[in-house]
Amino acid sequence: MSTLLVTGGAGFIGSNFVHYVLSHTSHRVVVLDALTYASSGSALQGLPADRVELVVGDISDAALVGDLARTADAVVHYAAETHNDNSLVDPAPFVQTNIVGTYTLLEAARLHGTRFHHISTDEVYGDLPLDDPAKFTADTPYNPSSPYSSTKAGSDLLVRAWVRSFGLEATISNCSNNYGPRQHVEKFIPRQITNVIDGVRPRLYGKGENVRDWIHADDHSSAVLRILEHGRPGETYLIGADGEKNNMEVIRAILTEMGQDPSAYDHVADRPGHDLRYAIDASKLRDELGWTPEFTDFEAGLRDTIEWYRKNEDWWREQKAAAEAKYANTGH
Ligand code: NAD
Ligand code: DAU
Repeated sequence: MSTLLVTGGAGFIGSNFVHYVLSHTSHRVVVLDALTYASSGSALQGLPADRVELVVGDISDAALVGDLARTADAVVHYAAETHNDNSLVDPAPFVQTNIVGTYTLLEAARLHGTRFHHISTDEVYGDLPLDDPAKFTADTPYNPSSPYSSTKAGSDLLVRAWVRSFGLEATISNCSNNYGPRQHVEKFIPRQITNVIDGVRPRLYGKGENVRDWIHADDHSSAVLRILEHGRPGETYLIGADGEKNNMEVIRAILTEMGQDPSAYDHVADRPGHDLRYAIDASKLRDELGWTPEFTDFEAGLRDTIEWYRKNEDWWREQKAAAEAKYANTGH
């Protein structure tokens, strides 16, 4: 049995990873999370107290991070500022958490010789044209577009430098867009589901032609666990489940699943610098580590996700007003 230090474990994907680890391994988990607006105190509720500990703190706190890295067998680093729209309003916390925070963790892992896995995004590669079958691979040059994606790219490059210069035993994964339970309602899918629940028409940025490559959060978790246990140090693995859909298709699917007219949505102002298309070639992960996704039916995964938001209004109701107040200021 090992102890994993999971940063950002009270957020969307981090909490799904903690639940996944608890039910699929015998590892113990220490979650380090600053409990920002994006987290939820209840994300870890119901998990066995002898296997999960929540430490409330900042990943930029070198003393705290040093103590935790010393007693962990591995760091799995999810904590980040994650929303592109927020990064366009105020990039400062993105630079602080995503770059300075990652640097702080890397130094702690270097000092204590702790195995490190860095969670990153496909957005570091920029975007692809709509009319081109090309996909991102680990050899695609970095070309991030937004303050969010550029700070994630910066954090990836720090990890690569710590591997090469200091021999840190680290791996990186770059995953596509996740969906599933406990995603903050500022994000596209939960925003539209909760809009429909509230009788508000879903909002599509620009023409709605932008393509995202959707993967269920549990498939992201199984891939991260596989890389953590079998990945080669120094390597980068791309995680994706061949789930390309344009935003209009996703909105229409949500409306249909929720018993509404599939065309009952509004077009609103486009996101500045809006990336056109993301698509992942995950063959390295599939061929080298034998990983395959389980949730290949997007409509079925979406139905379960809608059901989760219907049943857990207590979880998102308070977040919703704050998220929509922020959007009201940007015309979205
Ligand atoms: P999220 O915004 O839902 O959660 C982020 C968590 O990090 C929150 O619990 C928050 O409290 C915590 N956090 C933020 N700043 C912190 C700090 N300074 N110290 C400690 N904790 C802090 O994010 P998410 O969507 O679950 O994304 C998690 C990770 O996965 C991020 O690194 C993100 O870049 C990456 N990722 C996300 C997606 C996606 O589709 N959401 C896809 C690929 C990669
Ligand atoms: O690709 C991985 C990335 O996916 C992660 O690194 C990010 O942390 C995560 O937030 C996500 O980024 P996106 O910008 O793709 O996700 P978002 O949910 O904000 O938007 C998805 C698409 O939907 C995008 O093309 C913008 C569009 N959109 C979004 C909102 C909130 C709308 O059309 N309407 C909306 O109301």
